[in-house]
Amino acid sequence: MKVPPGPKGREAFGFFGGGSFAGTLEFLQRTARRYGPISSFRLLHKRIYLVDDADLVRDILVTQQHKFERDSGAGLLRELVGDALITREEPQHRDRRRVLQPAFHRDQVASYAQIMTAEAARLAEEWQPLETIDVRDQMRRLTLAIVGAALFGADFRESAAQVADVLRRVASKSRWLAPAFAFIEPAAALYRRLFPNGRSLFFESERKQLDRIVAPIVDRRHGSGTKDVVSLLLNTRDPADEPLSARAVQNEVVTFVLAGHETTATALTWTWFLLARNRHVATRLGEELHRVLAMDRPPTLEDVPELKYTGLVFQEAMRLYPPALAFARRAKEAVQLAGYTIPRHASVFLSPYVTQRNPKYFPNPEEFIPERWLEHQQPPKFAYFPFGGGAKMCIGEPFARLEGVLALATLARKWELECIDDDPVGLGTGLLLNPDRPILMRIRSRPTQVFQQSSPQPYTIEVQ
Ligand code: HEM
Repeated sequence: MKVPPGPKGREAFGFFGGGSFAGTLEFLQRTARRYGPISSFRLLHKRIYLVDDADLVRDILVTQQHKFERDSGAGLLRELVGDALITREEPQHRDRRRVLQPAFHRDQVASYAQIMTAEAARLAEEWQPLETIDVRDQMRRLTLAIVGAALFGADFRESAAQVADVLRRVASKSRWLAPAFAFIEPAAALYRRLFPNGRSLFFESERKQLDRIVAPIVDRRHGSGTKDVVSLLLNTRDPADEPLSARAVQNEVVTFVLAGHETTATALTWTWFLLARNRHVATRLGEELHRVLAMDRPPTLEDVPELKYTGLVFQEAMRLYPPALAFARRAKEAVQLAGYTIPRHASVFLSPYVTQRNPKYFPNPEEFIPERWLEHQQPPKFAYFPFGGGAKMCIGEPFARLEGVLALATLARKWELECIDDDPVGLGTGLLLNPDRPILMRIRSRPTQVFQQSSPQPYTIEVQ
């Protein structure tokens, strides 16, 4: 059978990146650039396919999505969050998504704006001029407070620090587990089939701790008529017309805490870093904040359409550093892709990190240029996919985009952050595309002089 071109023999073991995550990403990028839109390589008994082409990404995530399922990453996740939206397959996935979707409808997400701004303003009040902060820690605290208060109610704040602690332990375990899991997955899947509700293979103690933290939050929401995630779940009946079990509700709560805070924190961390290293972008951002907010009030939901450049800064940061750097799908049956037959059970990798740096779609791909999104000619839709696509696309996308703009505008209208050194920052990850070391930044008051307005025109581009 004809297979797509790709590295062979020892070269293919570059996939393991010499033990470093950055090495793996470099390997994927090198392979994609050298072998083109679709490539493949063999690792032990597995042949892996890699796509780096907007049309093929659309094919896998949308057009032919019914022929694919989640890959081994979901198996590992299942050991932490159990049976939940983020681990389910069709048709059960669709049923659960339908239940939860109202928590992410446009109007409902808009109702979270006040919480987003209030939490960011609280942080802005804490910061002191010339103080040095670890920006990743600060962004994690912020996004955890936001997702907790917005989705589970204000009483969640007390539990946030405990949840964060447990998830940090999970991330550090996953650093070594994630690469190994693809190879032990068949045994793990068999165990899970035999004991669907059995002990977690890797995260039993973390699961127990999360349950202890989350159970009282769920209890307090019984009888509330609101559309927050917990209330929606509590008001749902399963196919046998029974209320969802406490276990099912807890699994979703843990899912949303996990998927909903570290991702946005990572995106905001890189945004601050890129702003510090690209002063002209920071200046232009300051101009917009000055024009829209006159620098004397925090933003509101009504300001968001005017904060276009702020949105583009966040969007461009996620192009260069997409928090979900790569994900995979497994073929449920033989699939035709770009003239090749992808056999049943084969894994296909899609990498926002690789494709979003492809010069075919993004000229000067390594440069941070928010203005590129204002160009007349825009890249095809699936050349940029930090939130995935299709039926399993990130349900939190509108939430994350609004949060990014409001958090950035609230903090940046008051403060600038500068790196305390010029040393390079590499890529290191647990499950997400994190920097390989803490990014320490010094806080400076934003200058209050009237900015020369270089671009007072409202932007007209439709942001994806
Ligand atoms: C910048 C921030 C975020 C990024 C980059 C991101 C990225 C992603 C991606 C790529 C997927 C799909 C993975 C796949 O197709 O296999 C996903 C799924 C998901 N995300 Fe996000 N996410 C972000 C923020 C959020 C937020 C704020 C929430 C919740 C409040 C959230 C909740 C979820 C859930 C529940 C899923 C599973 C959806 C399903 O399978 O139906 N995410 N996310």
